[in-house]
Amino acid sequence: MLNYELRFLIFVKLYKRMGENTMIEFTENMMIGVPHIDAQHREMVGFLNKSLELCNANPTREEIEAGLNFLASYVTTHFRDEEELQIECNYPNYQRHKEKHEAFVESFLALKSTYANENVSPERLAYMLVQEVMIWVVEHVEGEDIEFGRYYNQVKGTA
Ligand SMILES: [Fe+2]
Ligand SMILES: [Fe+2]
Repeated sequence: MLNYELRFLIFVKLYKRMGENTMIEFTENMMIGVPHIDAQHREMVGFLNKSLELCNANPTREEIEAGLNFLASYVTTHFRDEEELQIECNYPNYQRHKEKHEAFVESFLALKSTYANENVSPERLAYMLVQEVMIWVVEHVEGEDIEFGRYYNQVKGTA
């Protein structure tokens, strides 16, 4: 496993190679079939794209702070909403899913403490933010959340 710094540098390099107008599209393979959760995921992809723009636009500390504040309130609401649905329908992988949410909150908190270090440039912070959210969208939303959506719709008889 590559260490964090190396993976991070590779990510930045790759992103720069993709070009300044790279956007992540909210596509069907990200939809879990529960309308209010899908709306929240769409909002997260919108936030990801805004953060991608920040990487290329000499971000300020204030802009990074606004992004971190958005993310803090977003994850509180979103993870709670998903977990409530899972409890409601006795989702068998609830514990595992909840642990993944907690792991994301932990890496988010690590990002916040990096932000607290004033020697870290806002550009680097923007890339770190994007990397976290991108990994989350691709790994968690397209994996765990989709799996939950399948179960939910089966149980509810909507699939
Ligand atoms: Fe989610
Ligand atoms: Fe989730």
